[in-house]
Amino acid sequence: MEQLKQSFVVALNSAFDGKVSIEEQSLERPKSPDMGDLAFPCFRAAKAMGLNPNQLANQLASSIELSLPSGAELVAVGPYLNLKLGAENRAVAVLKRFLRGNEKTLNNNKQTVLVEYSSPNIAKLFTIGHLRSTMIGHALVQVNRYLGCKVIRLNHLGDWGTQFGKLLTAYKYWAETENPKLENDFPWAHPIPENRRSPLFRLFQLYVRFHEEEENNAELRDEARLWFKRLESGDEEALRLWGWFREISLTEFQRVYDRLGVSFDSMDGESFYTDKLAGTVEKLQDFGLLEEGEGGSRIVILEDVGIQTPCIVVKGDGTSIYATRDIAAALYRRVSYNFEKCIYVVGADQVLHFQQLFAVLEKLDPWFVGRMLHTPFGMVNLPQGKMSTRQGNVIFLEDVLDESVSRVLSIIEDKNPNLENKLEVAEILGIGAVIFFDAMNDRVKPITFAWDRVIALEGDTGPYVQYAHARICSVLRKAGDDWINHVRPTNCLSADVADVVFDEVDLPLELSGLSEPSAQVLLYELAGLQSAICSVQRENMATALARQLVAIARAFSGFYTNCPILAQENSAGVRDSRLLLCVATARAVRQGLWLLGIRAPEEM
Ligand code: ARG
Repeated sequence: MEQLKQSFVVALNSAFDGKVSIEEQSLERPKSPDMGDLAFPCFRAAKAMGLNPNQLANQLASSIELSLPSGAELVAVGPYLNLKLGAENRAVAVLKRFLRGNEKTLNNNKQTVLVEYSSPNIAKLFTIGHLRSTMIGHALVQVNRYLGCKVIRLNHLGDWGTQFGKLLTAYKYWAETENPKLENDFPWAHPIPENRRSPLFRLFQLYVRFHEEEENNAELRDEARLWFKRLESGDEEALRLWGWFREISLTEFQRVYDRLGVSFDSMDGESFYTDKLAGTVEKLQDFGLLEEGEGGSRIVILEDVGIQTPCIVVKGDGTSIYATRDIAAALYRRVSYNFEKCIYVVGADQVLHFQQLFAVLEKLDPWFVGRMLHTPFGMVNLPQGKMSTRQGNVIFLEDVLDESVSRVLSIIEDKNPNLENKLEVAEILGIGAVIFFDAMNDRVKPITFAWDRVIALEGDTGPYVQYAHARICSVLRKAGDDWINHVRPTNCLSADVADVVFDEVDLPLELSGLSEPSAQVLLYELAGLQSAICSVQRENMATALARQLVAIARAFSGFYTNCPILAQENSAGVRDSRLLLCVATARAVRQGLWLLGIRAPEEM
């Protein structure tokens, strides 16, 4: 299909003879399978040539030079020029794509893409907001790698800043003598849930207490400022405690990352840039970008580029700030990675911050123009109730994951109590459900968790898609070892792998049994996977892929209902053709879910 697409584009370009230029992206998928397999919308070209789009479509249909397999045709449908492969050709094209690994065409553009995601603040717990950054980021990493880019995965840990002054102050006051190793619960704090008893949680409680008390205690705030100053100037005690807080946090974060199956190439957080801040400020100074701001602070004015709020680079007390560390990080990454694109997957509440950051960088060096991208996302809301463990007004990610897993487990107990390794499957389904729900939702809108919509076996959910995969596996198991082995990856899947590799399957000379409309719909949806993956890369959100997987799962269900598979006699290869379509579907689903960071069990 990809090759055909390329030839179609070449043919269109030569028909236009340089008057209009067409790219692969200009091609669309027709709205339904009976309208064809590829559609060229004529609007833009017609306008450029002073024609009416319907007229152009007609002209092209009769004049364009494209060699097509027999049974395929080009037809004008209103303002569209559609390429219709015909049932047989479509089956061959789609099955080849999924059954013969070497047929996969990538837009092999070896660009270096940096994806910065997750980036939690240490000494705080992972919240549900971090799930979005972590999993949207992971999907962008996977998709860009899958499409042939060189991707560097960055976790810009929030491990520096005034909050550590606060934490040090709080530790000195409320922990150092009574609970120095943070081993015990604090008598003054809300009781900690059984499954969350960890030093990190206690650190977090110190932080919450600081915020409660500083409201009426300005001295506390001054003290925190002093502690941060001590930290920035390399004070031994401050650094030692900070290092320990950091370690406590990283251990816990790693557990969550392992559970989610994500990993990073660099965990250099904000603290990594402390020794680069002076140089950064100096550079801004040399470029004449620094002005005197309020209270002795130093700022970069951005009004000339339409941003009213200046970017503060050095605070009045001489300490650095979040933005300074981001400027330093970008300059450092430019030298270390020489990238084409740097994507920051960070919440919509930081839109202004990134506008300022990019504007400052562009003033410093035009090289940054067009390379920096913030992909904001909306917040996650949880309905009130038992699952929203709230402390200091945040919802912890692990509580949400646990809740989802336990809900799934009770469904399994109910529907399939004899399933082996129930716990493992519940973990895969429960976590997959949360990730998929997140991906289905438009990236920028806020989302609200409604458990029924997260884990339902019917509807646009992760478990629904995983269920389609498990159903196919069950058919293939019954068909025999040779069949089920075709959907077992031959490579070892880890967070470092984007491509799920399967063995190569030979296509029979004749593919009968796939002309049924429901089989054709399934083929049509399978053909849409590649463009869905490409649109994840283009739009920097996973939604199109999640939706396409639902469409595939739904089409499979139609095929399964209408076309007997195992019960079918293999006269003229009907049974084998249908089994091959099952194999292709399972592979597509498996690969698509994997790009989103979701696994697909064989049984559930
Ligand atoms: N640590 C920040 C937070 O949790 C996010 C960091 C985003 N990345 C950046 N380069 N500023 O809100």
